[in-house]
Amino acid sequence: MIEKRPAWSSQFAFILAAIGSAVGLGNIWRFPYIMGKNGGAVFLFVYLLLIFFICSIPLLAELVHGKYTQKSVLDAFGQVNSKLKIFGWFDIATSVMISSFYFVVGGWIIFYILKSFSFSGITDFGGYFNNFVASPIYSVVFTIAFLFACIFFVYRGVNKGIEVANKIMMPLFGVLLIVLVCVSLSLPNASVGLEFMFKPDFSKFTPSMILEALGQALFTLSIGMGAILTYGSYLKKDDSILKSAYSIIIADTIFAILAGIMIFPAVFSFGMEPNSGAGLVFITLPKIFTQMPFGNLVSFGFFVLLFFAALTSGISIVEVTVSAFIDTYKMSRHKAAIIMFLMVALLAIPVSLSFGLLSSATIFGKTLFDFFDYITANLFMPLNSLAICFVVGWLLKVANDYVFKNRFMHELFLFMCRFVLPILFVLLIVTGLR
Ligand code: PHE
Repeated sequence: MIEKRPAWSSQFAFILAAIGSAVGLGNIWRFPYIMGKNGGAVFLFVYLLLIFFICSIPLLAELVHGKYTQKSVLDAFGQVNSKLKIFGWFDIATSVMISSFYFVVGGWIIFYILKSFSFSGITDFGGYFNNFVASPIYSVVFTIAFLFACIFFVYRGVNKGIEVANKIMMPLFGVLLIVLVCVSLSLPNASVGLEFMFKPDFSKFTPSMILEALGQALFTLSIGMGAILTYGSYLKKDDSILKSAYSIIIADTIFAILAGIMIFPAVFSFGMEPNSGAGLVFITLPKIFTQMPFGNLVSFGFFVLLFFAALTSGISIVEVTVSAFIDTYKMSRHKAAIIMFLMVALLAIPVSLSFGLLSSATIFGKTLFDFFDYITANLFMPLNSLAICFVVGWLLKVANDYVFKNRFMHELFLFMCRFVLPILFVLLIVTGLR
């Protein structure tokens, strides 16, 4: 049976789900590090300017495209011009490719939650992590477990699945984050970590930092894959796009900064090196947890928090394709969800083996994991964002007051979509692919 096209039960439910999509691994393991590495407060300043004044435009554009057409990616582009449907396919391809590596990390998180209470005896966390990710059985089983969790909520539908997941997990995420921020700030020498993040070092300002901040801002807002478009397509006529967009941006930024305040004081307090990504989250932090009072509990809390953040993002990633299959091919949600499960599994299984069995399988010198991360961030996401800005700027012809009540702001929005953002996206692709 084909379900009636769903709608969010309230604008708040939408905002929560969109924040759930935005706040993810990008905020917790990437943002704090990039900020620290790029001179702390200087980077934060550039980032804030970009996210509020520049990245808000493609975010608004995705919301406009989704809400205006009330369709998911394939039909939203197809309705404008059937030739543009290809960009819907790009979104789908991007959602499958991002799932393939994001869900591998999701699987690691589940493993670390289960192991949180048995970390105390371990001394070499680097070796522990490397052994774990190289194990074919563990990698595959936990990746599929994470994929299953995402599909479970999407399978249940927009209201009973996606909304419920976000209504439960996002508040818990917020509470855990605040508790862990307090724990971190109470450690000796916590101020050194805050200095790393917030003390401006103007000598570190470089033009390339602007592009790095731009790439980070796009990824963290879930732009360039149709996730926001799809969530926007479930909005009702009276829901405000502008209010939603800025709520998402403000919440995402606050969570990213809090994540830094949770991580860096602890890292510096224990005399560790701040590094990014897997090393920080799966090697440095567990080591720190074992040296803290109630470390097991803190560790458990941290990985559960990370799980909620990754899961609510993962749900939005798979919903892009599931929603498109339902709308375009009139499939039942259940069938679409199962097909997406199989497609992601097909790609994510080899990707999860990138650190062991398939570590020598490379594309352009990169392991499968690195390749899909690289190609989506540097090519597909900016390209898809460009397509959205082009469509909204030139072709969609929404009314003057569709987003902004003010005529000048409307014209400015179109101008940005037509000229400014396409140039930035091309720059991002050209510099990223070098
Ligand atoms: N925004 C998510 C994060 O910061 C990642 C994501 C990208 C989610 C694209 C959906 C779409 O982790």
